[in-house]
Amino acid sequence: MDTKQLLEWSDKYLMAFAKRYPVALVRGEGVRVWDTDGKEYLDFTGGIAVTALGHSHPRVVGTMREQATALLHVSNYFHIPQQIHLAKLLCDHSFADRVFFSNSGAEANETAIKLCRKWAKEHGSSDRGDIISMRGGFHGRTLATVTATAQDKYHHGFEPLPAGFKYVAFNDLTALERAIDSRTAGVLVEPIQGEGGVNIPDDGYLPGLRKLCDEARIALILDEIQTGMGRTGRLWCYEHAGITPDIMTVAKALANGVPIGATLATEEVARVFTPGSHGTTFGGNPLATAVGLTVLTTLLEENLPDRAGRMGRLLLERLEAVRTRLPGLVKEVRGRGLLIGMEMVPPIGDVVTACRERGLLVLTAGNNMMRLAPPLVVSEAEVNRAVGIVGDALEALAR
Ligand SMILES: Cc1ncc(COP(=O)(O)O)c(C=O)c1O
Repeated sequence: MDTKQLLEWSDKYLMAFAKRYPVALVRGEGVRVWDTDGKEYLDFTGGIAVTALGHSHPRVVGTMREQATALLHVSNYFHIPQQIHLAKLLCDHSFADRVFFSNSGAEANETAIKLCRKWAKEHGSSDRGDIISMRGGFHGRTLATVTATAQDKYHHGFEPLPAGFKYVAFNDLTALERAIDSRTAGVLVEPIQGEGGVNIPDDGYLPGLRKLCDEARIALILDEIQTGMGRTGRLWCYEHAGITPDIMTVAKALANGVPIGATLATEEVARVFTPGSHGTTFGGNPLATAVGLTVLTTLLEENLPDRAGRMGRLLLERLEAVRTRLPGLVKEVRGRGLLIGMEMVPPIGDVVTACRERGLLVLTAGNNMMRLAPPLVVSEAEVNRAVGIVGDALEALAR
């Protein structure tokens, strides 16, 4: 079928929930993808920070083949060896003692909210149910997680929203201290706001959050769905701050594109989930957790968080050089590891199109921001090529 017909059917048969670019991708290898017309792109979107090992990674493909032949799905009425091994590996390499597997980031956060509320009621008081989250954050699109997402544009038209959510400014410990009261169950926060615009808090922010939560005896929930799995240069972003959360959510890169979510918690919190407390049909199934196990093992064996740190520094430096070379086109470049934002002066839609036409796929975020989240396996040559395209695209827009 030709691309034009395909895009017409897309318009006709799919709910118009997303603004799609006029491109249909059909094949990928490493950091490169190809569209229906055979055009090649450098994929610096990583499927929105998902394909940490790149496209068609041989170990991922091998595990998928093997697991699909052996056993795709059973249910959580049975023990699933791959799920158990992945839970152990996650616990061995994080603060956590126990894991609940689900199918997406939103579902991982839903689980975190439920777990936090149940823990707060059982170990605090029955009044404790409020979740405090940060303005500009992003936690998902289900009703509870979109409510925790403190941005009006995501709420509009979906009211009434669930009760029990409060918002404070990101990176403002005084505002949080004022907002915590006898009804607060926990604080939900991204260590770096991704969708909100690659917003990096001050160094003292996460330690300050930890202290406030300890003093109030409430849970600190870190949403590491975008920042986790090595993207910021450490396996978990909280490691940069020298603190640990009570609950953490992971998804996106955990199975490199096979849908999965995970909610990790300390024993103290996790034990309030007892048989019947929560559930899922697909969550943690043999396929998703087998792939998750391969992805996390590969990430650790190949020391990819470290590589993300190094490649991220290169990318940041070179984008900063573009900013200096082309005055008046870029306001700021910021990021940590391979999560990088470039705040543009020209309309971001034009920048995205100009990059795509030159063979580079990029994301947007926050306020007129270009966001880059390439696979952690990206090479220096690919970094250089991408930066070259961004420079050319900006120069063309300036003309
Ligand atoms: C920080 C964060 N939390 C939660 C989500 C929601 O994840 P999902 O789209 O898998 O439900 C996202 C997605 O972009 C995210 O970036």
